[in-house]
Amino acid sequence: MTRAALDAAPRGLLPEGMTAAAIILAAGLGTRMRSSRPKVMHPLAGRPMIRHLLDACEARFGRIVAVVGPDMPELEAAVAPHGVAVQRERLGTAHAALRAMPQLGGYDGAVAVLYGDNPLVSEATLGRLLAARAEAELVLLAMRPADPGRYGRVVTAADGMVERIVEWADATEAERAVGLCNAGAVCAASGDLARWLAAVGNDNAKGEYYLTDVVALARAEGRRVRAVEAPEAELRGINSRAELAAAEATLQARLRAAAMEAGVTMLAPETVFLAHDTRFGQDVTLEPHVVFGPGVRVAEGALIRAFSHLEGCTVGREAVIGPYARLRPGTVIEARAHVGNFVELKATTLGEGAKANHLSYLGDASVGAGANIGAGTITCNYDGVSKHRTEIGEGAFIGSDTALVAPVRIGARALVGAGSVITANVPEDALAIARGRQTIYEGRGVKGKKGK
Ligand code: UD1
Ligand code: MG
Repeated sequence: MTRAALDAAPRGLLPEGMTAAAIILAAGLGTRMRSSRPKVMHPLAGRPMIRHLLDACEARFGRIVAVVGPDMPELEAAVAPHGVAVQRERLGTAHAALRAMPQLGGYDGAVAVLYGDNPLVSEATLGRLLAARAEAELVLLAMRPADPGRYGRVVTAADGMVERIVEWADATEAERAVGLCNAGAVCAASGDLARWLAAVGNDNAKGEYYLTDVVALARAEGRRVRAVEAPEAELRGINSRAELAAAEATLQARLRAAAMEAGVTMLAPETVFLAHDTRFGQDVTLEPHVVFGPGVRVAEGALIRAFSHLEGCTVGREAVIGPYARLRPGTVIEARAHVGNFVELKATTLGEGAKANHLSYLGDASVGAGANIGAGTITCNYDGVSKHRTEIGEGAFIGSDTALVAPVRIGARALVGAGSVITANVPEDALAIARGRQTIYEGRGVKGKKGK
C-alpha cells in the first residue's frame, strides 16, 4: 500500500484488499524514559520507533489513526499521512483508544489497538492477530517473557479462553506469578470495541481507564476472547532507556542476520551497527566495529574496514573504506576507489579508482577518476559564511599537506606540489607549487648556535 493510496482512501472506507483499521496509542509522556521528547520518537536503528510500527501496520491495515498528546508536532509529522487524534488529558489507554474512534468514521470492520511503545511486532504476527478473529470476538497478543516484570498478566480459563487482564499494580501475588503477559494489542469489531471502551471505568490502583479492561467486559457479555502468542523479542514494550537498548539489540540482531543472509561477510557481527535502511550488494565484507547511520548503500565486493562510520552515502563496487574512515551525507565513492585512515568526506564524489588514503578532509568536492589525494590534503570549503566547491580533475595528483581554498578547480592530470596553499585554478596537465621557497644557510645548523 503506497502512502498516496492510503491518502486517497476516503475516511472510514478501506482500500481494496484491506480488511482492518488500526489505532496506535502514542500520547503517553514516557515518564520512565526521563526525556523531553515523546517516547515513541526515540530512535531504533536510526529512525523513530513509531515508524517501525507504522511500517508493519501499513502492510496490514487500510486505515491507521495515531493517538498523540498535545504539543507533539514532531510526532504528528512522523505519523503523516495517517490520521491523528489528540488526547488532551492522559487518562489511560482505554481513554486514548476512544479518542480515535470518531476518526474511523462509521467503519464497522475489525479494529486493532496497538501501542506505539511495542514497535517490533512483525507484519506476520499482525496477520495472525487478524486471522484469530475467526475464533473469537476479541483477540489479543500475548507473550511469555523471561522476566515478566510489570507487564499486565493474562488470566486464562482451563480451556485457554482469556478471562481478564490484570495490571501488575492491581495484581495479587498469585496473579503476578502468571507467566503469560499482555503485549498491548487487541482486535475486535469496531462496534463492540467502541461499546466496551465506553464502559471501561477507572477504579484501579492508578486511577486510569485501562484498555485491558475490555477483556472482562467482553467476557461479561459471553463473548469469546483468545490470546495469540508471539516471542518476547517481537512484543517487548519500551518504557525505559534500558528497554530501549534491549529493543535496539533485538533489531540489530535481525538486521545483521538479514545482511549475512544477503551475502555480506561480517567478521564480528555483534560489533557492527546497522540502520533500518542499510543496503548491501553481495560479497561486501565488514570488518569489526563499523557503524552505519541512515541512508547507506554499499555495492558488491566493497570492503569496509574496522572502525569506520558511514551515513547518507554510497560506496561503489570493490571500493575499500577505512580503517578509521568517516563518510558523511552526500558522499559517493565510485567503484574501486580507496578511502584510508582518518579521512573524512562530506558531500563529495570520489571518482572511480581515485585514492584518498591518509589524514584528509574533502568537503563539497568532486574528485575525478584515478586522482590521488596526498596525505593531509584539506579542502577549505567554508569561508565562515558560505560553503564553496572544489573540483579535482581525472588523474590529478595532489601533493601531501595541500590546502585547496575553495572555490577552486584543479585540471585533469595536474600536479600540485606538497605543502601548497592553492587559491587559484590550476590548468590541465600543469604543475602548481604554492609555498615558501627553501633557503640554505651553510654552517648555521646546530653547531653554529652560541655556546656549542
Ligand atoms: C501497557 C498495558 C499492559 C501491558 C504493556 C505492554 C494497559 C493499562 N497496560 O502497560 O497490560 O503489559 O502495556 O507493553 O494498557 N498511552 C496513551 N495515553 C494514555 C496512556 C498511555 O496514548 O493515557 C499510550 C502510551 O504512549 C504507550 C501505550 O499507550 O504507547 C501504553 O502505555 P504505557 O504507559 O506504556 O503502558 P504500560 O504500563 O507499558
Ligand atoms: Mg508501555
